[in-house]
Amino acid sequence: MIPAPLGLLAELTHRCPLACPYCSNPLELEGRAAELSAAAWSRVFREAAALGVLQVHLSGGEPASRRDLDEIVSAANDAGLYTNLITSAIGLDAKRLARLRMGGLDHVQLSVQDVTPASADRIAGYSGAHERKLAFARSVTELGLALTINAVIHRANIDSVAALVELAVSLGAGRVEIAHAQYYGWALRNRDALMPTRAQVERAMHEIEDIRARYLHHIVIDMVTPDYYARRPKACMGGWGRRSLNVTPSGRALPCHAAPTIPGLEFWSVHDHTLAEIWLESPAFQAFRGTAWMREPCRSCAMREKDFGGCRCQAMALAGDPAATDPVCELSPLHALVGELAERDATSDVSDYAYRGRKPSRLEEVT
Ligand code: SF4
Ligand code: FES
Repeated sequence: MIPAPLGLLAELTHRCPLACPYCSNPLELEGRAAELSAAAWSRVFREAAALGVLQVHLSGGEPASRRDLDEIVSAANDAGLYTNLITSAIGLDAKRLARLRMGGLDHVQLSVQDVTPASADRIAGYSGAHERKLAFARSVTELGLALTINAVIHRANIDSVAALVELAVSLGAGRVEIAHAQYYGWALRNRDALMPTRAQVERAMHEIEDIRARYLHHIVIDMVTPDYYARRPKACMGGWGRRSLNVTPSGRALPCHAAPTIPGLEFWSVHDHTLAEIWLESPAFQAFRGTAWMREPCRSCAMREKDFGGCRCQAMALAGDPAATDPVCELSPLHALVGELAERDATSDVSDYAYRGRKPSRLEEVT
């Protein structure tokens, strides 16, 4: 039997004022003209709740780029979903946040790029972003909303992991996610400038364990480990088509955000099908659900029901085959290649980022 999904990632828009080099959104973004209306999202939320979804993550791009965000939050709340807004804070002030709170917003997940404004703004490609984020975080807690701080970790900020946790504590967050960059979408283009060294990763892991003990009763620390230095893969998305689904700004339903990098998958749209039809019957969700699609070494591995063979999109990116064992796994014949790629990129002298849609000269204004 196919279990019900618990979470829906609603990508309200691909528009975003920031230009983070680790962005996992695709190279080709969906335009404003194609975005689902608030009424269409309202229907999707009701279908999601009927299917068993408990939480909706309102994401982007930057969801605040949508003028009708209030209406969308209210619709999610009316559908009975727990609503989490994933935001950079740009485009939101205390007044607008208070309106979202009134409409039923439950939780805010705020991205921060680093602990110093100079480094954080350089990474985000947006001057003044860091100070605005700090002010926004204060508004979130003053309004009594639950706050999570999310920090994507890479070469430029990995030596600040402990300070990032301390920043989250000082902002009143109940949770902090220390998430190593995942190299999909735009991030893959910047892998050589983002990859930390193995020594940096090991030091950061120790620091997190120390600080976890110190702040045990203050904050929950979630850690997403860096794939390229791992020996076993993560259960990406908790297993394909098993726990959650994404809907893109134009209404395409995806098993994960990078699924369109896998050639030949057929994605259904919420314009043409209900969410239940998509979840239960659409070809893309069936493609790698469960374990029947697996080959050796996954097929006979004791871990196959735990990590589901790792990440299909990473297998596609690194092995050129979405049904291959994720090369992050040490049982994959390609595992050594992952270590070599990590070492090569970590020691490259590339430090300039490729920022989406911007020429390098635009960057000099930021740095
Ligand atoms: Fe997971 Fe496959 Fe590696 Fe086993 S062989 S640990 S199932 S990725
Ligand atoms: Fe697609 Fe991991 S990102 S399965």
